[in-house]
Amino acid sequence: MTHRWLSTDPPGPARRSRDPSAGGLGEPPAARSGHQPASAWPDLPAALDLRSHDVDVWRVHLDHPAWPLEQIAGLLSPDEQERASTFAFARDRQRFQVSRGVVRLLLAGYVDVAPDAITFRYGPNGKPEFAVETSGDPRASGHPRVEFNASRSRGLALCAFARGRRVGVDLEALRRLPEAEGVADRCFSRRERSELAALSHGDLEGAVLRGWTRKEAYAKAVGDGLTRPLDGIEVSVSPTEPPALRAIHGDPLTARRWSLVTLSPDAGYVAALVVEGHDYELTCRAGQPTTPPLRCP
Ligand SMILES: CC(C)(COP(=O)(O)OP(=O)(O)OC[C@H]1O[C@@H](n2cnc3c(N)ncnc32)[C@H](O)[C@@H]1OP(=O)(O)O)[C@@H](O)C(=O)NCCC(=O)NCCS
Repeated sequence: MTHRWLSTDPPGPARRSRDPSAGGLGEPPAARSGHQPASAWPDLPAALDLRSHDVDVWRVHLDHPAWPLEQIAGLLSPDEQERASTFAFARDRQRFQVSRGVVRLLLAGYVDVAPDAITFRYGPNGKPEFAVETSGDPRASGHPRVEFNASRSRGLALCAFARGRRVGVDLEALRRLPEAEGVADRCFSRRERSELAALSHGDLEGAVLRGWTRKEAYAKAVGDGLTRPLDGIEVSVSPTEPPALRAIHGDPLTARRWSLVTLSPDAGYVAALVVEGHDYELTCRAGQPTTPPLRCP
């Protein structure tokens, strides 16, 4: 599947069907309570459509100096704020706050709920899920619930959104991987290892990182995370082969129910997206505040 990165300014016409005055992503976090001007998020659309066959992936530069950190941090729930306080380094804390805050802002744009009113619930292995669509039954409106998943590496984050289909995303900064052989031994199947063994060490590092993102994106889509061995998730690893999810614990049929897309969100990063099903339209979007920095009272 091909994909492209779209600017968010302005949003595509097909996606602008909701009344922007209804609020959402285009509003500053606390605008509903009257604290900030509506221009505080000028680069982000006011409302976002997510049709049942849409999958949206957002790229977010977490270290962008224009993020209004205090306001973003104010969107987080008490448990998120508690988690933020456990980071030893300010930069890691801020990246966590921005990525959680942006997920809230984007969800708010999709479902028309105030970003700070969004509640997450957590799967058995910690996968956050959007708890309710609106007040009451999430399916009452006839729209399947919004599913999402997020990943961050260094200063970049990816957030994937879909309706009624599970998604998983994993992002890794490209880097030297002196332990590539060890990772291959621990996390790749026999067939994958024999394909990796045919590569030069230089190619091996990239192939292990790419293979890792494919495996982890699936593990995140189903909510397992890294609780189960990754060698049971078999993927293509050779740089000359198209990205593929080959088998899940030896079962190719299970693998065929999912699609795998590799993403190139930025120089120096590799990423993979796993989506339940094949009949969807992928849009990649860039979400970040404008430069010069936002004016926030
Ligand atoms: C979750 C996990 C896959 C994250 O991997 P990672 O490469 O370090 O981090 P990524 O940036 O790719 O992804 C992190 C995001 O994945 C999501 N996530 C967390 N648990 C997840 C799971 N089980 N399945 C899918 N997504 C998950 C969250 O949105 C998280 O973002 P957050 O840090 O803002 O909470 C990994 O830490 C893991 O599997 N841990 C084991 C489970 C665990 O320890 N659970 C503890 C709570 S019960």
